[in-house]
Amino acid sequence: MRASIVGTGYVGLVTGACLAEKGCGVVCVDIDPERVARVNHGESPVHEDGLPELLRRNVPVRLTASADWQRAIMDTDVTFIAVGTPLRGDEIDLTAVESASTTIGEALRAKDSYHAVIVKSTVIPGTTDSVVRPLLERASGRKVGRDIGLGANPEFLTEGTAVEDFLHPDRIVLGGNDDRTLDLLENLYRDFEAPKLRTNTQTAEMIKYASNALLATMISFANEIGNLCSATGGVDAVDVMRGVHLSRYLSAALPNGNHFLAPITSFLESGCGFGGSCLPKDVGALIAYGRRANQPMRLLESVLQVNKQQHQQVLSLLDKHFPSLAGVRIAVLGLAFKPDTDDVRESPAIPVIRELLARGAHVSLHDPVASGESRGLFGGDVHLCCELKDTVRRAEAVVVITRWKEYEQLPAIFAELNREPVVVDGRRMLDKHRFAHYEGIGLGTLPPPAGQKASL
Ligand code: UGA
Repeated sequence: MRASIVGTGYVGLVTGACLAEKGCGVVCVDIDPERVARVNHGESPVHEDGLPELLRRNVPVRLTASADWQRAIMDTDVTFIAVGTPLRGDEIDLTAVESASTTIGEALRAKDSYHAVIVKSTVIPGTTDSVVRPLLERASGRKVGRDIGLGANPEFLTEGTAVEDFLHPDRIVLGGNDDRTLDLLENLYRDFEAPKLRTNTQTAEMIKYASNALLATMISFANEIGNLCSATGGVDAVDVMRGVHLSRYLSAALPNGNHFLAPITSFLESGCGFGGSCLPKDVGALIAYGRRANQPMRLLESVLQVNKQQHQQVLSLLDKHFPSLAGVRIAVLGLAFKPDTDDVRESPAIPVIRELLARGAHVSLHDPVASGESRGLFGGDVHLCCELKDTVRRAEAVVVITRWKEYEQLPAIFAELNREPVVVDGRRMLDKHRFAHYEGIGLGTLPPPAGQKASL
């Protein structure tokens, strides 16, 4: 089978590269000629583990990129729509999906044989049937269900491990309103070992949102509990969450006496909040959808509200040590919304740094891959450092925002520099006992004994 993929962002390109790896002929279609050229040179325009190797192996034999939609659609049996669906205000912006649907429809006008169009972009339930379908039918002059197949096949890719997630999926959701489309999808994924759920397009679309809404809810739940721990002397949210994780609902005792923790426990940790291109946007879109369906999503509204305020915890911890942040030298570690990606969208680092700058702090910033985004976000107001040691060398406070592995070296670096700055651990990734002045989100410190002042 041959597939064309419209949109060569991280979802489209990973989908294309992984399908090619499994032997499918793939054409990646994009309106950006520079992206097309890069892919055809075997270069990945996005930072994603394993993608360069896949491109090297499959370009140009099984994978090519093109700006020629007509050709790509004539040469393939199925087209995936994998374009962005950002939030505009609090509603999902379908401009790119709509224009892709029309362009694909126009290209299909010249094709006699059956062709399936599959929506991979995250869209609110009903979009494939009520938005994509009429545009396709109008532009192609053909009928969905008779001479065109139409389906929804959401992705469950985590940035940073997207290639691995695609090649070894936990589930494959196949949405379609007719058997021919569903059979085609099932055939396309026949070499992937995972439960395959055949369902209608609206249910497939809803599964994607429900999955991300659950993860976001877990995070805000853990953060709310952590914030209460902070306010409660002598309670550490890390210990509380370990105790919660060990419940039989979240873990299983293995015969060797060890415990297997369900992966969802990694979303039940206190921290400075979730970001990225998916969770904030998808929860926001679901809330707006609920409002229109006359079904207010009160829990999810709170999930976003908790998240929006969570970065303030970092600032409150700094306030404990500095009466004013004006002129204080603060090193911020991490700009990416999570490790192993250069994606900074909705990263909690952004509001933290903005507030530090607004309060007059001198900010130095380190991120192993995403620091290049800093100038666009903060102009020249932030001092960018390539080396971790240089970033913290003169800092009075060090704030960890992204869980990059190399930040575990901080105790050794401080020992070498002979410095003991205040450390604010926004991810609870460091060993609190190894720092002289440690503050962590969710760590409720006991008030000092009466008559004694809190010291650094
Ligand atoms: C997320 C989901 O995990 C994927 O399953 C889904 O397919 C994807 O969205 C998508 O819709 O495409 P992603 O946004 O790449 O993937 O990243 P996650 O690993 O889920 O992290 C999201 C955010 O939550 C990060 O900012 C991370 O730091 C934060 N997080 C995670 C916490 O704040 N606390 C935690 O305990 C765990």
